[in-house]
Amino acid sequence: MSRRSVVLMPGDGIGNVVLEESVRVLEVAGFEADWVSADIGWEFWKSEGNPLPQRTIDLIAEHKVALFGAITSKPKDAAAEELAPELRDQGLVYFSPIVGLRQRFDLDLSIRPCITFPGNPLNFIRRAADGGMDEPEVNTVIFRQNTEGLYGGVEWTNPPEEVWQALNTHPRFKAFRDVPREDLAVSTRIFTRAKCRRICEEAFAYAAKHGYSSVTICEKPNVIRETSGMMLDEGRRAKQKYPDIQLWDTNIDAQMMWLTKNPEDYGVVVAGNMFGDIISDGFAGLVGGLGFAASANIGAEVGVFEPTHGSAPKYADLDPSIVNPIAMVLSAVMMLEWIGETEIAERIRGAVSEVVAEGSVRCYDMMKLRGGPKAVSDGAATTSQMTDAIISKL
Ligand code: NAI
Ligand code: MG
Repeated sequence: MSRRSVVLMPGDGIGNVVLEESVRVLEVAGFEADWVSADIGWEFWKSEGNPLPQRTIDLIAEHKVALFGAITSKPKDAAAEELAPELRDQGLVYFSPIVGLRQRFDLDLSIRPCITFPGNPLNFIRRAADGGMDEPEVNTVIFRQNTEGLYGGVEWTNPPEEVWQALNTHPRFKAFRDVPREDLAVSTRIFTRAKCRRICEEAFAYAAKHGYSSVTICEKPNVIRETSGMMLDEGRRAKQKYPDIQLWDTNIDAQMMWLTKNPEDYGVVVAGNMFGDIISDGFAGLVGGLGFAASANIGAEVGVFEPTHGSAPKYADLDPSIVNPIAMVLSAVMMLEWIGETEIAERIRGAVSEVVAEGSVRCYDMMKLRGGPKAVSDGAATTSQMTDAIISKL
């Protein structure tokens, strides 16, 4: 096995805890790498006025593969107040470094697998037709467009004159023409064909590679005709190369309902940035929630792997830590898959699966306990006990 280098960006709060735990698992599983530490997050905002320093960007550009824990973001004013005194009044504006990374490296695919681990007490259950309980096995992978759409950042309150004039050329703008400009907020939803094409093609390729029988385009083309319509067109185009994989299209609102009715029917699901954000949290809630939700941000050259959860400041300073490391460990598994270390990836996933099925070691979230210092005395495993349990299965 050739030696790799991987950039580690722990970030803030529990990001520091879970990232270290995932590295421990990777090493015991036999993944050998040079670990390259990189700075990101709130500390660097406060001390340097930049939560994503250029030196971190340079390291990612050099090494191409990164694991990321989580960062803390705060509203604009709160962010400005915490700046080091010498940096105040320089007009520095806080911007989320993970969103910044996605844009800087064009990490346009967000891949979020939501897969049931049998025995997880957090699994979704429903009433079966015979009145008993039914626990469907969810095996859905969300492909969320990660750089465009409603999160593209092209927006105004009180839009400038040229923008207002341009909007005014649209017949449907008539309804808004008399609104005072300062009371008019516009957030654009821009899709490009190239990005729609890439995510649809990648979703079908993934479905073929991993044996999924369907790809669902989850948008709202009956109402949002132009952008959702473009995604659906590209879904149809991508499908042509895959006669054995079905193309389904659903509307986001109906999909949220079907999520709790027949989630086991969905394989790969493609959505734009905002609907992908929503649907991926929806599916994650069926298979364990934040303690289990892993994700990959994939560009043409760079991959950044991170749990969906944030820095959980409430629990950041607890000693011992109680948060569930599984989401981060599964994100590291996605990294292994992306770089082709599939054998190690499968072994780690198998180890997680065994620990969950056995059920003797559970973090507080898996026991539906309140988080906090009492969680451990109430019977919850600490973060490192969970990691140890995973390691013991390797
Ligand atoms: P959060 O995900 O940090 O935490 C919400 C709650 O979920 C926690 O209080 C805890 O009860 C639970 N939780 C989260 N991770 C867990 C884990 N591994 N195991 C067990 N329970 C877990 O979201 P919140 O509180 O909304 O945001 C906190 C900070 O994180 C904010 O500053 C926010 O901006 C940031 N954030 C960063 C993200 C990122 O780095 N990608 C994503 C989401 C939030
Ligand atoms: Mg989200």
